[in-house]
Amino acid sequence: MKQTRILLAAGALSLALAATAGIGIAADDAGEARSQAMKTMGGSMKAIKDTIGAGGPAADIVAPAQKIAEIAATIPSLFPEGSDAPDDEAKAEIWQNWDDFSAKAKALGDEATLLASAAQGGDMATVGAQFDKVGGSCGACHKAYRAKP
Ligand code: HEC
Repeated sequence: MKQTRILLAAGALSLALAATAGIGIAADDAGEARSQAMKTMGGSMKAIKDTIGAGGPAADIVAPAQKIAEIAATIPSLFPEGSDAPDDEAKAEIWQNWDDFSAKAKALGDEATLLASAAQGGDMATVGAQFDKVGGSCGACHKAYRAKP
């Protein structure tokens, strides 16, 4: 009888440990997914910047701009509640100001979609001006919600 109780206690303890580890893994996965998404957007921004620096062609900017718009639409889902890890750069304010955070993600999507349209239009001056607005949208969110902007 006593032995059964010890076994039960041991079982409960390992369940508790497994649950804790599970939360840790979920947070790590979320951190990894958003890190990948943000890095992909960084790569798209660099590709666009290089094309602008080379004076075109504007058509090359359409796909990376659309990629940014596509990822921007997923940003809120990359920050599930409880996914704040001590070693990441996501500030706790994200979840306190969720509507504002989501609005900043949407603003990026809107600006990136406008950039894709501008690139389709082909005028590099318009593309350059719209690119600055996309960069501004990255910065606006990082300033408010990223620990090391
Ligand atoms: C709605 C908010 C928001 C927008 C918009 C946003 N970011 Fe981020 N970004 C974050 C947050 C928050 C982090 C920190 C995430 C973490 O550490 O878990 C981050 C991190 C990053 C990182 C570091 C990733 C890593 O793990 O090394 C890069 C690069 C990055 N963002 C690029 C961009 C670019 C480029 C844009 C615009 C095209 C952009 N971000 C737009 C919120 C945003």
